[in-house]
Amino acid sequence: MKQRFPHYVYNPVTLIGSAIAALSFGLIIFLFVLDLFSSEENTYMGILTYIIIPSFLIVGLLLIAYGIIREIKREKQGKVRERKLPVIDLNDPKKRAMFVTFSIGTIILMLFSAFGSFKAYEYTETDEFCGTVCHKVMEPEYTAYLDSPHSRVGCVGCHIGSGTNWYVKSKFSGAYQVYSVLFNKYSRPIPTPVHALRPAEGTCEQCHTPSHFFNEKKVDYTYYLSDEQNSQSKLSMLVKIGGGKSELGSIEGIHWHVNPDIEISYVHTDERRLEIPWVKVTSKDGKEIIFRDKNSKFDDKKFNQENLRTMDCIDCHNRPSHIYHQPDKMMNENLTIGLVDVTLPYIKSIAVEVLEEDYKTKQQALESIEQRINDFYLSNYADIYNSKKDAIKQSIEVVKKIYSRNYFPYMNANWKHFPDNIAHTYTPGCFRCHDGNHVSDDGKVISNDCNSCHTIISQTDNSGNTRIDLNGLSFQHPIDLDKAEQLQLCTDCHWKKE
Ligand code: HEC
Ligand code: HEC
Ligand code: HEC
Ligand code: HEC
Ligand code: HEC
Ligand code: HEC
Repeated sequence: MKQRFPHYVYNPVTLIGSAIAALSFGLIIFLFVLDLFSSEENTYMGILTYIIIPSFLIVGLLLIAYGIIREIKREKQGKVRERKLPVIDLNDPKKRAMFVTFSIGTIILMLFSAFGSFKAYEYTETDEFCGTVCHKVMEPEYTAYLDSPHSRVGCVGCHIGSGTNWYVKSKFSGAYQVYSVLFNKYSRPIPTPVHALRPAEGTCEQCHTPSHFFNEKKVDYTYYLSDEQNSQSKLSMLVKIGGGKSELGSIEGIHWHVNPDIEISYVHTDERRLEIPWVKVTSKDGKEIIFRDKNSKFDDKKFNQENLRTMDCIDCHNRPSHIYHQPDKMMNENLTIGLVDVTLPYIKSIAVEVLEEDYKTKQQALESIEQRINDFYLSNYADIYNSKKDAIKQSIEVVKKIYSRNYFPYMNANWKHFPDNIAHTYTPGCFRCHDGNHVSDDGKVISNDCNSCHTIISQTDNSGNTRIDLNGLSFQHPIDLDKAEQLQLCTDCHWKKE
């Protein structure tokens, strides 16, 4: 056989390397063309084309070089040669052919690798990559994201933002995340809060300006109790979302916390920022007020600096995208719009109960939900079980859907592990600071007055009596608690920490 290249190229390692490189190169071209013409985005194809096969290509190239170097070394050991480096004699047609082929080949390959790595980087920025590559691991976050008001805002918009600094940071932590998934080193659920999250200034505030909040926002709730009739009550209130505009000078309103003229910092003593014993407000003129939780033994002088945080959007809006809903709320909504039949006795109670059960797998949960609701009606309300078969069936489907959307047993993700900080009823939220126990040295208290954040303008109780007052009503709890709701925090009864 006539050899086109010098003899030291013809060693097994180099030949295998060339085969691998050529094959991967061909595959990349093929998949790339396929990708150009396919209309659907396919995660796995993307990883294959832009990440996995190019790595093979690189391995192939390294093998070629390694084989040649090794061969030359061997020859050197056999014969004593004067020259240290191989001389490429371009007058020798064999060597010339090798040189030209190798140089052109390398240039083309490098061009393609550069293009490939650019595509790979671009690819790691897509929601598809962030949300589905790690599949089961990110399933909770991705499912919740797709169902959120920000489903059209890319993961990158909130998790990285623009600019190179955070970009590089995020790639490093991203590389670690890929490693932890590959080697099964991730925790279930994924820890929250995210420590390396970019401050909201570079993310949320690129789309929402803090100074543009004003007036009130009306919200309406319909509640159902866990009794046989699923007793209904209603409440409407105006949430005071103003406060961001410094020119107006007023501290009225919820977005006052992010008003550019003030800064609120706080210390938390737990990982999840739920226990906050110390809060400091610094105004533009340098004046400081410190509020301390009078029930906490926290010592101002020695605390972990890492637990000191400056408040921004995420301290309240920690679930703008990955919202795991509380089961009472979900059932209230579905009963209100009629997807669950409110005439089914105890439907709210049984549904919330089966949703909150601990299950090992989603499959087990869905089967158990179906069986327990069916059994409940069959054994307690046999006539209703027969006359309202369809309504029961539909309700079961709704409950299963609520489960699939909000509970992820594989990752241990649910509303208790990822408490939403936006309110105070089912999770601590605002009452982490506004519990009436945070007092300054001169006796000022972080307000827990029920009308400081919202004005209840109408309430309809279980027997249908409605009270309306635009100046604000006092809250009437859906069941009579003998004023306990005024002495205890809502979460004392409505939240179970996980
Ligand atoms: C609207 C902004 C926003 C978008 C869009 C967004 N996230 Fe998040 N994400 C957040 C915030 C805020 C947190 C929680 C931060 C905290 O509490 O420290 C978070 C937390 C997470 C966590 C940590 C676990 C948890 O739930 O707290 C993961 C994982 C995550 N996001 C993945 C994603 C993925 C994947 C996408 C895209 C499919 C995405 N995020 C899109 C804002 C966003
Ligand atoms: C790329 C732009 C963009 C970014 C970044 C972004 N948002 Fe939004 N956000 C929007 C848009 C657009 C809407 C309105 C969506 C709608 O009404 O369907 C919205 C809606 C909201 C709402 C109202 C949701 C509701 O239920 O009505 C809140 C609260 C919010 N964003 C908070 C945040 C927070 C907190 C962050 C940062 C973690 C953030 N946003 C980042 C664009 C963005
Ligand atoms: C002290 C807690 C808190 C902070 C800090 C905070 N918000 Fe809000 N925000 C709320 C509450 C409470 C609401 C009303 C409830 C809701 O819409 O979920 C709200 C409502 C909103 C809305 C919807 C307004 C509307 O008209 O419906 C947007 C958008 C929003 N916030 C963005 C932000 C951004 C951006 C930041 C940071 C610059 C921020 N918020 C900081 C508590 C806060
Ligand atoms: C980290 C602690 C902290 C958290 C969490 C917090 N706040 Fe505040 N809030 C403060 C402080 C401090 C003040 C100023 C108290 C003062 O100077 O009287 C304040 C003031 C307010 C005011 C102005 C009160 C007034 O007198 O006009 C409103 C409204 C408010 N907060 C709403 C909320 C809401 C709603 C939430 C939850 C979504 C929340 N806050 C969460 C610390 C907090
Ligand atoms: C620090 C501010 C703040 C204080 C103080 C406060 N609330 Fe609220 N409350 C909120 C916010 C924010 C929400 C959520 C509003 C939304 O859904 O947009 C809320 C929601 C509610 C809801 C609806 C609950 C739900 O999730 O269905 C009720 C009822 C309520 N508050 C009653 C009270 C009562 C009673 C008090 C006095 C003990 C009180 N609030 C004190 C901020 C506050
Ligand atoms: C002493 C314990 C206790 C306290 C404190 C308490 N609740 Fe309740 N709450 C209950 C019980 C018990 C029920 C009835 C549950 C049922 O029938 O499902 C209930 C029912 C409710 C319901 C209707 C059921 C639902 O979740 O849809 C709402 C809304 C509610 N409470 C809001 C609040 C708010 C807001 C606060 C704080 C201001 C509060 N509760 C404080 C014990 C409490």
